[in-house]
Amino acid sequence: MSSDVPDASDVAETADEVDATDAVSDEPEANDSAVEEAAKHVPSGAPPLRVEGLVKHFGGVTAVDGASFEVERGSLTGLIGPNGAGKSTTFNCITGVHEPTAGSVYFKSEDVTGLEPYRMARKGLVRTFQIARELEEMTVLENLMLAPKGQIGESAIRAVTPGLRREVIEQEEAIRERAWETLDFFEIDHLANEHAGNLSGGQRKLLEMARALMTDPEVVLLDEPLAGVNPTLEEKILDRIHQLREDGYTFLLVEHDMDVIMNNCEHVIVMHQGSVLAEGTGDEIRDNERVIEAYLGEDI
Ligand SMILES: Nc1ncnc2c1ncn2[C@@H]1O[C@H](COP(=O)(O)OP(=O)(O)OP(=O)(O)O)[C@@H](O)[C@H]1O
Ligand SMILES: [Mg+2]
Repeated sequence: MSSDVPDASDVAETADEVDATDAVSDEPEANDSAVEEAAKHVPSGAPPLRVEGLVKHFGGVTAVDGASFEVERGSLTGLIGPNGAGKSTTFNCITGVHEPTAGSVYFKSEDVTGLEPYRMARKGLVRTFQIARELEEMTVLENLMLAPKGQIGESAIRAVTPGLRREVIEQEEAIRERAWETLDFFEIDHLANEHAGNLSGGQRKLLEMARALMTDPEVVLLDEPLAGVNPTLEEKILDRIHQLREDGYTFLLVEHDMDVIMNNCEHVIVMHQGSVLAEGTGDEIRDNERVIEAYLGEDI
């Protein structure tokens, strides 16, 4: 989809699924989270993300049909394919929004297939949605402050126990500061106290990326972050993605605008009818006969 208009699959997604960043705050388990956080920074030669033989059926519909690929550390990898190729469903299966019918997802060689979104986010793998899912009734700042993992204040006992209360307040202050820094990074700090529901489509995309970053991820899956965004904002978003990449983040980007893919992604994966049709550099993809055929003459 190249616009913000929901397609059938996205409406289906929004009906019964939970956003990874919403879900992160559901369970405090600070100790558990600290262990996972420490494990995250153990250097590993394995690619941060690998998908093997992924299959997803919805009743009689096969949305993903044996997709296999890996994403290199620190890369900005493009995931493209015609409408309905299975890109968003692949993202959903990777991040635990949907349980795959078959196949495996590896995060740095650990099998994480079927883990719930909040667990995936704790490990360091988050996604943004094709249709932004911020909490409309909350302010922009509140949306960001809700995202980080392992907030001790969410434990009622800790929040009211003298001595621990100070810890809770200090952590909240740290999160608030981080939220302001993140808003500043995306240049939406002037919107901090605005209700998220009042933002424009482009501003919502920025907010969603900002929320994803608040979970301190390693791998970020971006589902059409530029759809419906004006050219100035588009440039800003791409610029931020490149900056973050230089800081060591890994991105997998779904985008329909081929110029954006060709100009920004060093590696491109093409999906068609639920599986991977081709992979390579932008130039290799552009000249690939099977890819050209899959797009039925659309400009690639
Ligand atoms: N929750 C669902 N229930 C039933 N069918 C679904 C569901 N989600 C996706 N599908 C179907 O699976 C197929 C792949 O959809 P998906 O949204 O993954 O494609 P996509 O590559 O992201 O397409 P687009 O470029 O239009 O966003 C489509 O035929 C879609 O209608
Ligand atoms: Mg999609």
